[in-house]
Amino acid sequence: MHKFVIEGGNKLKGEIEISGAKNASLALIPATLLTKGETVLKNTPNLRDITTMLQLMKALGAKTVLKNNSLLVDTRKIKKYEAPYEHVKKMRASIYVLGPLLARYNHAKVSLPGGCAWGPRPVNLHIEGLKKLGAEIDFEEGYIVAKTKKLTGGLINFDVSSVGATGNILMAAVLAKGETKIQNAAIEPEITSLAEFLIKMGAKIEGIGTNQLLIQGVDELKACKFETIPDRIEAGTFLIAATMTKGKIKIKNCIPSHLDILLYKLKETGCKVKTGKNWVEVTGTEKIKPVDITTAIYPGFPTDLQAQWIALMSIAIGSSQIAETIYYDRFKHVPELNRLGANITVTENIAVIKGVTNLKGAKVMSTDLRASASLILAGLVAEGKTEILRAYHIDRGYENIEKKLQKVGANIKRKYYQEF
Ligand code: EPZ
Repeated sequence: MHKFVIEGGNKLKGEIEISGAKNASLALIPATLLTKGETVLKNTPNLRDITTMLQLMKALGAKTVLKNNSLLVDTRKIKKYEAPYEHVKKMRASIYVLGPLLARYNHAKVSLPGGCAWGPRPVNLHIEGLKKLGAEIDFEEGYIVAKTKKLTGGLINFDVSSVGATGNILMAAVLAKGETKIQNAAIEPEITSLAEFLIKMGAKIEGIGTNQLLIQGVDELKACKFETIPDRIEAGTFLIAATMTKGKIKIKNCIPSHLDILLYKLKETGCKVKTGKNWVEVTGTEKIKPVDITTAIYPGFPTDLQAQWIALMSIAIGSSQIAETIYYDRFKHVPELNRLGANITVTENIAVIKGVTNLKGAKVMSTDLRASASLILAGLVAEGKTEILRAYHIDRGYENIEKKLQKVGANIKRKYYQEF
């Protein structure tokens, strides 16, 4: 088991290269099941979640080779149509194989994902959407068992904007017979990127980037090469780190427009923000002003940066309020941040943070990916030593995080340890 050991207090200065987007890759990889051939996905990040997805693809019969962030997926010998509990319980995004397997092979058996660290993660929108495309769905011993003679186009109107459900239904609809309309579709960049990939494979999709997608089903799709977009959440995490440590960081190979709301809010804290075609530079300010946020679907403030923002606000000069509207109970990081000396109280889905002059290092526990990221950020500014246990949570979504932070001056080390 690994932990991170951080000596806080260093200002971060320099440049960081951003990796490919985890949440784009986790949709692009299963999308290769829609074709029989060899697909190349460039800029694929080397992360635990990607490894988990590739293990699932291999279990289905695909061949995969990830080398220097270039991923080859060969789907010519898919022979199984089941995503076992062992995979799905490790990573909820495994459910992304459901739509493509149904569309290509007319049946699929996928374990229901459990909850996650911060609560239930329903999949009703995925199920209802596939039923609208003609799938028969049963539930047997914790598994979704889906079958169809042939998926046919339909009208789907999501009650709630869902990234995963939009991705799954989009991947099912591109090979369904006839026209599918998806209303209230998610417009996160990772979904836009999935739609662009499907079009490059030969799919017919209109309305990309809007919440109304119109898909004309085609008979087959072709394998192709595609570049994964940069990870906006990784980029945002490092920009918040720059602000917290009052340093100056240039984030390279990112897409500034994916970070609009964060850059707007960072400017409100008083730091300087400069942007170029594929880079963003943030210069921290001595006095961090408190700034309230409410998480929302894209292009609103991403829930995946909420924990990191709370860490930043814990050392602001004054009080701030964070409202979490996507996952009401996504606050597992708060008790751990308070152990580092923060002053945060949570009532229902609202966190109120009273800024403190400094945090103090301690041993803290990672509980989920973004909570762990907020603990690393806090450790970078806390006085003395902070130990963040269960580093594997971070490794799910951040490629070589300690190396990237060391390169800009952080005193952070990955250490092996035994849990009792
Ligand atoms: C994706 O999860 C991301 N994961 C999450 O990032 C991200 O937090 C989330 O979108 C929101 O942006 C991947 O892309 C792999 P949703 P997803 O379906 O698709 C409710 C990270 O840290 N809902 O958009 O599972 C749901 O409960 C991860 O990288 C239903 O009610 O999220 C939530 O309140 C964590 N029924 C809301 O919709 C459903 O069938 C948004 O969830 C599906 C979702």
